[in-house]
Amino acid sequence: MTEQESYPVPAEWAARTQVDAAGYASLYGRALGDPGRFWLEQAKRLDWIKRPEIAGDWSFNEDDFRIAWFPDGRLNVAANCVDRHLKTRGDQTAIIWEPDDPADAARRFTYAELHAEMGRFANVLKAAGVRKGDRVTIYMPMIPEAAFAMLACARIGAIHSVVFGGFSPEALAGRIRDCDSSIVITADEGRRGGRPVPLKANVDAAAGHAPSLKTVIVVKVTGANVAMQDGRDHWYEDLASRAGTDCPVEPMGAEDPLFVLYTSGSTGKPKGVLHTSGGYLLWAALTHELTFDYRAPSIYWCAADIGWVTGHSYILYGPLANGGTTLMYEGVPNWPTASRIWEVVDRHKVEILYTAPTALRALMREGDAPVQRTSRASLKLLGSVGEPINPEAWRWYHHVVGEDRCPIIDTWWQTETGGTLIAPLPGATALKPGSATLPLPGVDPQIVDAVGNVLTGEAEGNLVIARSWPGQMRTVWGDHARFFQTYFSTYKGKYFTGDGCRRDADGYYWITGRVDDVINVSGHRMGTAEVESALVLHPKVAEAAVVGFPHDIKGQGIYAYVTLNANEEPSDALRKELVAWVRTEIGPIASPDAIQFAPALPKTRSGKIMRRILRKIAEGDTSNLGDVSTLADPSVVEHLVANRAA
Ligand code: PRX
Repeated sequence: MTEQESYPVPAEWAARTQVDAAGYASLYGRALGDPGRFWLEQAKRLDWIKRPEIAGDWSFNEDDFRIAWFPDGRLNVAANCVDRHLKTRGDQTAIIWEPDDPADAARRFTYAELHAEMGRFANVLKAAGVRKGDRVTIYMPMIPEAAFAMLACARIGAIHSVVFGGFSPEALAGRIRDCDSSIVITADEGRRGGRPVPLKANVDAAAGHAPSLKTVIVVKVTGANVAMQDGRDHWYEDLASRAGTDCPVEPMGAEDPLFVLYTSGSTGKPKGVLHTSGGYLLWAALTHELTFDYRAPSIYWCAADIGWVTGHSYILYGPLANGGTTLMYEGVPNWPTASRIWEVVDRHKVEILYTAPTALRALMREGDAPVQRTSRASLKLLGSVGEPINPEAWRWYHHVVGEDRCPIIDTWWQTETGGTLIAPLPGATALKPGSATLPLPGVDPQIVDAVGNVLTGEAEGNLVIARSWPGQMRTVWGDHARFFQTYFSTYKGKYFTGDGCRRDADGYYWITGRVDDVINVSGHRMGTAEVESALVLHPKVAEAAVVGFPHDIKGQGIYAYVTLNANEEPSDALRKELVAWVRTEIGPIASPDAIQFAPALPKTRSGKIMRRILRKIAEGDTSNLGDVSTLADPSVVEHLVANRAA
């Protein structure tokens, strides 16, 4: 009964907070009561070239569908994240970089140094022909140059599209093609957990399937011997040695695009989520300040990768807009030992740590000793993101890691939302393990049933957001119709999140997981259709159906049912081959955890695969499969149950 388990705001937090319970209630009331006034007031936290006079201008209805925030304002995101701090914080550390190998030295960049590095990178991009509005693909390890490159794009008005370094050449090529980018910034190799990641070689492999690609800029990281194609490939070092550090900022409309970031949906093709400049930055900055009660120059570490939205909003844009000190970590949580995260905390005196439940579950399995070997005395607050945090992991995080003194801030949001929508405020909200608690100011969540009736009080159903907020995505790159169709057509006039949700008697929200064909594997979002598309590309596969199933560490694992072509025989070797195939097509994060060969899949008479049954079998819950009488051939189910993959 976790709903009854509640942790009040600790006394010291109540005393030091910027926003207490009354403060939260007032902010929340004002944001929904007089949004125009509230948001123009909030907009003052940014530095505008032209201050906006209009706040939100939006409608979720089909006939006048539009989403804009501060449309008459002009600003530059990079200037907000760096230049404006120069006077007051020029010598303050902006970025701390912690290398993969603890034997290597950490690096630090002050705001003044970051300004110079960003300017240099911007000049390199300009010399390479990049102009305002051009798309720049960034396929980089977690090194400071990744941050310089993103800020450089923002400075000159180019649109970055960061592709996670764990994606395969195939996946990279698809993302280059979709946004028609002509330039990729990469590294010779990345380093993760002591192992090299062949980034440049992957770009070379992708280039054959990405005809728009004309220029590759390569940052030297490991010094590995990589092939450089004349005319196309350039070492960043060489270009940078000819570039100055002064680069004027491009004035941007608040609604000009800042970045595209690809994310999985219920169809096979990832969507390019587009975020714009003013509203996005405001949301990243405001939510970073509120949810972590952030005050510069507190040392703050978001242990995500820059390739995901969490890295965009909460390693880079939010913390830097707030003049903070943000830590970037090149490596993985459990290398060289299960103490690494806590050692990094001690080494840099981290006060705020923000990570994903999957990492916590993996570390929890190693026992308490690797944590207890370290001090962690600097920690004040612990954040969680990316997937529901199970109460057991929550309690471990709170008790063992935080020694009962750090609030656990469970932040619910999505690539589409730009930043957190539902989360506790450390000085205002009593916590319940497993609940993201209450909506942030301006966020109007509702729980609806299958046909869209709004459920009040204690309720369980689908989570929608009834009003726009500044950080909301603006479109799907190149497909505005798909944007409307995906998010606004299921429940008229509302943004549909794709998540199921319960609200308890205290009004707390409990996210129950995706209700569409999206699964969450180790906090990474994966479309089941994407994995299916990859599998059916294999010459021996006739058909595939993929579902999620509960997994102790990953949260959800990937379970694939595969029907082979006639005359093909199932075998362990083929199973391994298919796993390797999916890794090559998408990347290691999409590796199926289980493959079951199935002579046939359960289908209705109209040919629709009954996923409900496949999910139950994958979960091992075969005692009650529900009504199977509508199946074209009910005997298929018996075969599936009898041959469940272990
Ligand atoms: O299902 C929700 C889950 O992750 C999805 C969004 O994934 P993505 O766009 O990759 O963004 C990850 C970074 C925010 C959501 O639809 N999710 C994310 N955070 C939480 C969560 N589920 C429960 N609790 C959370 N705190």
